[in-house]
Amino acid sequence: MTDITPLAIDSWAAPCSAQDQAAAVAALEAGNVLLLPQLDFPLHDNERGLYFQGAGVEVQGKNISLNLADHSVRGSSADAAELAVLRDMMVRFATLSRTLVHGLLPGYLATVEQGRTSFRPVEVAGRPSSWRQDDSRLHVDSFPSSPTRGKRILRLFTNVNPHGEGRHWRLGGSFEDVARRHLASLHGPLWGSRQLLAMLGITKGPRSAYDHYMLQLHDRMKADSDYQSSADQRSCEFAPGSTWMVYTDQVPHAAMGGRFAFEQTFYLPVAGMRDPAHSPLRVLERLMGRELV
Ligand code: SIN
Ligand code: FE
Repeated sequence: MTDITPLAIDSWAAPCSAQDQAAAVAALEAGNVLLLPQLDFPLHDNERGLYFQGAGVEVQGKNISLNLADHSVRGSSADAAELAVLRDMMVRFATLSRTLVHGLLPGYLATVEQGRTSFRPVEVAGRPSSWRQDDSRLHVDSFPSSPTRGKRILRLFTNVNPHGEGRHWRLGGSFEDVARRHLASLHGPLWGSRQLLAMLGITKGPRSAYDHYMLQLHDRMKADSDYQSSADQRSCEFAPGSTWMVYTDQVPHAAMGGRFAFEQTFYLPVAGMRDPAHSPLRVLERLMGRELV
């Protein structure tokens, strides 16, 4: 069962002790959630006024996202002035997240890459979606258009709900158990299909065999109602003012309720891990008896 490992860190930038650093990398790579119950993301008054009280901005999809490469913000109907506030808020979260990861996980410094940042003001419960996009079903993250070719997906969340409401998740068991359960139903890619998807621009670069199997695993998990209801699982609530980190490509998770959270994605090559044997890539390769490049 997935554990939740708490660490008493209350600053994004203060130096971390060697003990906390060792505990953090061990917990994350073993497939646990690292919870920083005292690490809040303070908001400025103008941000509070715009996005957290009353109507706020309209969100077009599940969330509003920031591309750090060009500071473009997608997914909101904000006008130019509102957009500037939104961008500054998200850039600040992205910067603090990076500072924390560098300080708490110094072993990752040389290889970790920062991905998109998102702001999630929409209530999760009751959000309409297709079963494949329904994140209230237990799943491991794998994205159709963004192959990782084995790189890890490490995500950091902060609940900034101003009404005292937690963010509710379910957490499943180990990646290996889930992979074993669904392995027999996964089939290989059609010849040439991965190259074709990349040529047509449907995927950002070609999917590796790993991406192919991870996408299927994501879909099988969400489609399997027996797994959803009867698999080993626990409910948890992340309180407002808390931050948590988790390898979402490894840990089965489902978002059940809550609104107003920030999220930052990081990518890490398997070789950058302290123990690559924990990675979904290495676990799948071991179970399937072949390389998944
Ligand atoms: C997810 O990664 O499935 C959603 C997590 C969340 O928004 O709380
Ligand atoms: Fe997810």
